[in-house]
Amino acid sequence: MKNFDFSVPTKVLFGEGKLNELKDYLGNMGKKGLLVTGKSSMRKTGVLDRVIKLGKESGVEIIVNEGVEPNPTSDYINHMSKLVRKEGCDFLIGLGGGSPMDAAKAISLLAINDGVIEDYLPGGKYEDMANVLGALPIVAITTTAGTGSEVTMFSVITNKKTKEKPGIGHQCLFPVLSIIDPELMVSVPKHITLSTGVDVLFHALEAYICTVATPLTDMYALEAIKLVLENLGDVLEDGSNLEKRSKVAWANTLAGMAIVQASTVGIHGMGHPIGGHTNSPHGMTMAALGKAFLDKTYDGDIDRYSNITKILGYDCEGLSKKECAAKSGEALQRVLDRFGAHVTISDLGVKEDMIETLAKDAFKTMGGCMAVSLKELDVEDAISIYKSSL
Ligand SMILES: [Fe+2]
Repeated sequence: MKNFDFSVPTKVLFGEGKLNELKDYLGNMGKKGLLVTGKSSMRKTGVLDRVIKLGKESGVEIIVNEGVEPNPTSDYINHMSKLVRKEGCDFLIGLGGGSPMDAAKAISLLAINDGVIEDYLPGGKYEDMANVLGALPIVAITTTAGTGSEVTMFSVITNKKTKEKPGIGHQCLFPVLSIIDPELMVSVPKHITLSTGVDVLFHALEAYICTVATPLTDMYALEAIKLVLENLGDVLEDGSNLEKRSKVAWANTLAGMAIVQASTVGIHGMGHPIGGHTNSPHGMTMAALGKAFLDKTYDGDIDRYSNITKILGYDCEGLSKKECAAKSGEALQRVLDRFGAHVTISDLGVKEDMIETLAKDAFKTMGGCMAVSLKELDVEDAISIYKSSL
């Protein structure tokens, strides 16, 4: 059996009503925090007011900024980190989906380190993160079941100038506290439930088909795939079903813990550049690439890919293991179609003349993911996968 390490240093509060326990923890974070969230939705649902009230009850001041855009930008991060310094904030709260949580992480990093966030992205002068001093404590309150950011050390930032969408990762970016309360998810609209749910499926799938998978991440990943298959369809039908929402939220948590200890592969590696150039919903970029990626890579590990085919519900009766593995892309596409996530990269705004740039971006900004795919990939392979996904 292979050797491996694992660590998830985040205190996770999981379950219905868990938001109320925030007040038991905030006092330990300091006196003043900056809460970042998206425009208006947290205010509309009343969740923002609840968090502010919980802050008051625990004796801390919470400054609110509702300016996080989907795919948060480096300009926003740089601006908010100056505010955090000026206000003397002790901690950050990211409230909402992946974007506010990722923004909170990047702001917390920059609040106590030199430079601008671009310095820490691939190509920047601190890209190796070797001299990072740490980050302010981060509280992640997730209101979607997707991204897994609440249990990872990753933050994804879009550079508006270069249109690149790289992820940064550092141990200090693990949230100190994460709250995963399915009650906060019942108002999530169907299209976001779909794109985030699909993201969970890909986190789990990719963690299973990467070179750095471990027995622990396999366990998390396979359970997460099973939970998504069994529950996401029902949540899409009826978003108010709390029990089913809880199951998908748990799948998201498991898949997040899987990717942080294993990795995503080239599907995320190639999906991020699409997000950077077209601002498409993150999960749908993976949905558009998944089949072509599996078709291209299935012979990198016949055992794992044939398992995936079967777990995705494809009947391999009468097929050899290799034939079964070759059906993994088709099996995945059937699942995506069933959820209503049939999409091409053309639908997301990708034109054929963008493909070379996207393929190069994938290796430049997401090289880590590209490198741990079970089949070695080069720029030509990436171009071929993008072309098959048009
Ligand atoms: Fe993702």
